[in-house]
Amino acid sequence: MDRLTGKVAVITGGSGGIGQATARLFVAEGARVVLVDLDADRLRATVAAIGGDAVGQAVADVSDEAQMRGVLDDSLRRFGRVDVLFCNAGTEGLVAPIADMPVEAFDRVMAVNVRGVFLGLKHALPLMQRQGGGSIIITSSVAGFKGAAHLAPYAASKHAVVGLMRSAVLETGASGVRINTIHPSPIDTRMMRAIEHGRAPGAEDAARQMITSRIPAGRYCTADEVALTALFLASDDSRYCTGGRYSVDGGMTAA
Ligand SMILES: NC(=O)c1ccc[n+]([C@@H]2O[C@H](COP(=O)([O-])OP(=O)(O)OC[C@H]3O[C@@H](n4cnc5c(N)ncnc54)[C@H](O)[C@@H]3O)[C@@H](O)[C@H]2O)c1
Repeated sequence: MDRLTGKVAVITGGSGGIGQATARLFVAEGARVVLVDLDADRLRATVAAIGGDAVGQAVADVSDEAQMRGVLDDSLRRFGRVDVLFCNAGTEGLVAPIADMPVEAFDRVMAVNVRGVFLGLKHALPLMQRQGGGSIIITSSVAGFKGAAHLAPYAASKHAVVGLMRSAVLETGASGVRINTIHPSPIDTRMMRAIEHGRAPGAEDAARQMITSRIPAGRYCTADEVALTALFLASDDSRYCTGGRYSVDGGMTAA
């Protein structure tokens, strides 16, 4: 219950499925957290549900440099340090074949999923280097290893963050800052409901069964299972782990 005692964590996408589960677990393990999200109503409800003094909130768009820098500066001012940045905000974008994908849809996915992570790294790395260490965790996906039909911008964005993570590791060297990616399989959150609907409007259950049939574990992942991996990477248990890609996918990428 004390694996994060004394640590301060900023979690983007903080009112989404994975963000909420991670926030609850991090607080239970002793961290103070700042939840960042675009969705102000859900953010407020998430913070109220977790309760206590250990949770702060910031309505911000991770793809906006001034807002992302502001979130990190405010967190530093309020708590004195930022030990963990969980770059987890993301969007699936439009579900459509490449030939039918408007370029604006491609750009929006890249802005949130790639530029958002780039901005998190850009403004957290100097701060963490100054304080002598920290852990940056990026939510990629199984789509960071494999293609995803009708989700090409999403798959491209989740591959791209691996390049950002690896480059950041080479730039930070022995500074004590660690950077890793997490690669979940489909999870029971809003995002998969939207993808199932996009793949098979009106036949979402069939789409879900088809996707599940490709997972050796025979079921979707849960947000809590992703949160447990984030906890490992946030805590000192992973003190020698950097530059890694952590699958939480029930064997989906073994094939
Ligand atoms: N759900 C899955 O099956 C799955 C699988 C693998 C990876 N992921 C990744 O996990 C992460 C979290 O997704 P989730 O499953 O919790 O989905 P979710 O939709 O429940 O949560 C995503 C959150 O990100 C927020 N967000 C979107 N754009 C934002 C922006 N520009 N600025 C700030 N916040 C923004 C949303 O408001 C939402 O609360 C995403 O990066 C997603 O790509 C999800």
